[in-house]
Amino acid sequence: MIPENDLARLKKLARDVSGRAYCRYSDFRVGAVVVAESGDEFAGCNVENASYGLSICAERNAVFQMVAGGQRLIKLIVIYTPTQEPAAPCGACRQVINEFGPLARVVSLCDSNQRLESSIHELLPDSFGPQNLRES
Ligand code: THU
Repeated sequence: MIPENDLARLKKLARDVSGRAYCRYSDFRVGAVVVAESGDEFAGCNVENASYGLSICAERNAVFQMVAGGQRLIKLIVIYTPTQEPAAPCGACRQVINEFGPLARVVSLCDSNQRLESSIHELLPDSFGPQNLRES
């Protein structure tokens, strides 16, 4: 279980970064905070593009910030959307979270008390990952 006061603090960080989302096409703000195994935290927001397919989700942005910061293991990712219902990470983000955090917890929070909490394994069972490319 993740302590509630940690989650409340991480929610605020994710909400703050969602405020910096560049989402002029969808107008859908997302903020994410990755907590690395070290305890260091990395925030990301969605960044869209006039060539729509180049847009990046908040979750992947946060994971890539972690990697750029020299860390490679996700303990927890907290996702915030300014909605009444929490939003689970998209399929592409699940694949990227799994790459760097096969044991990661994933928590989606929003402006109501509803939340989604699971493991990346539950969100992406039978995944293809780095282990498939290693010789045994
Ligand atoms: N988006 C995210 O940032 N994370 C998700 O898991 C789902 C979708 C973004 C992408 C796009 O900028 C906007 O939300 C609408 O899809």
